[in-house]
Amino acid sequence: MDSIGNRPIWLTYDAQVDVFRVTGGAPLEGTVAVPGAKNSVLKLMAATLLAPGTSILTNVPDIEDVTIMAELLRRLGCDVDQSGDRVCITVPATPDHRADYDLVRKMRASICVLGPLLARCGAADVAVPGGDNIGSRGLDMHVDGLRKLGAVVHNEHGYLLAEAKQLSGAHIVLEFPSVGATETLLMAAVTAKGETVLENVAREPEIVDICRMLVDMGAKVDGIGSSTLTVQGVQELHPVEHRVVSDRIVAGTWAVAAVMTQGRVTVSGVAPKYLELPLEKLVSAGAELSVEDQGFTISMSERPTSVDIVTLPYPGFPTDLQPQFIAMNSIANGAALVTENLFEARFRFVQELSRLGADVRTDGHHALIRGKSELSGAPVEATDIRAGAGLVLAGLVAKGETIVYGVSHIDRGYAGFVDVLQKLGADIARVAE
Ligand code: UD1
Repeated sequence: MDSIGNRPIWLTYDAQVDVFRVTGGAPLEGTVAVPGAKNSVLKLMAATLLAPGTSILTNVPDIEDVTIMAELLRRLGCDVDQSGDRVCITVPATPDHRADYDLVRKMRASICVLGPLLARCGAADVAVPGGDNIGSRGLDMHVDGLRKLGAVVHNEHGYLLAEAKQLSGAHIVLEFPSVGATETLLMAAVTAKGETVLENVAREPEIVDICRMLVDMGAKVDGIGSSTLTVQGVQELHPVEHRVVSDRIVAGTWAVAAVMTQGRVTVSGVAPKYLELPLEKLVSAGAELSVEDQGFTISMSERPTSVDIVTLPYPGFPTDLQPQFIAMNSIANGAALVTENLFEARFRFVQELSRLGADVRTDGHHALIRGKSELSGAPVEATDIRAGAGLVLAGLVAKGETIVYGVSHIDRGYAGFVDVLQKLGADIARVAE
């Protein structure tokens, strides 16, 4: 049987039948270390396809999506070995170039093998992904960009079929700074012939992380961290050892949990500069914050005050923290307007939050939240990773018991979610349904 470390794959899938039982009321107290970022590690695992041989990633989070990506790489002919927070990936001289629907449908991030497979194999057949249930999430920018680099791309029977004997450098302006499209085009461009200029790219810390890893593999990339990346194609890359950047969204989730429960939590292993806006918002809500180079302590002694937020690409407010902030606003003093600019379906979860008594009205891209002094526990269903986190946070302050269904979503993105919260003093347990 296939396994990652000692964990058989079928066992990890069995987690889907579990629920979280949360009883509200305990303030969170203590220290928590943040693992590597989900939104970085998956792309870094895909980027190893660009060089034959063994690459090593460290600070890898123990999450379901890493298991799925490892399985996908194995299907492409790689050996993947995980022990602790370290993953060794051995890429063959000629990987397979087909990513099948049965795996891709479990995780949208699977699309990130498209660029490196095309660059390495001259062809890539990748199923059009499913994944998070948060909106339409098109692939047009990935496809248009690859065409500009000289690829022929068709969409047939649910697969993107891309072909190019030799990609060639091009000038590409993205319509929107898409994280995924930036990564696909970057990974395709590093071994393309000549110069590629990518304008209006995403600037997320996870993009900086993949740029750094590619440079260590021998790629030539200028403008890292800016909205224009200039890539000089090289003939080949070599394997690398790389430490995954820490997960700012996980760190932000624990910070909101501390504030909502009127506790005091120290979050270590993450640079607070990557969370500037969310932490500022928590201070506006009434929290006390002290920051260090690689961590921060946040505490709260009163009911939070409502804060408006507007989600935007980095360095704007991250959409991946929007549900957690809606949860906080639902018990805050006052009313807040939250504007979601990235994923239209992300407000779906407010229907579940309303089951706990939250007063949230949505209209298109906007949600108006009128804070209540109390929520009351109820059964709720997580519809995506961050919605799941938001619902658990609401459960941590709701009166009585909240049962959260759909926890497989949370498992996809948060390592040891229940263990961390228990360690911080929360009354939460994972139980079979
Ligand atoms: C990544 C993150 C996700 C985060 C998001 C925005 C991973 C695995 N996921 O998702 O957690 O919420 O960045 O920070 O890293 N779009 C198009 N056409 C395209 C590409 C994107 O219309 O070709 C649209 C999407 O529908 C969405 C917006 O652009 O409305 C942002 O998407 P994008 O930045 O690409 O997000 P992902 O890479 O999917």
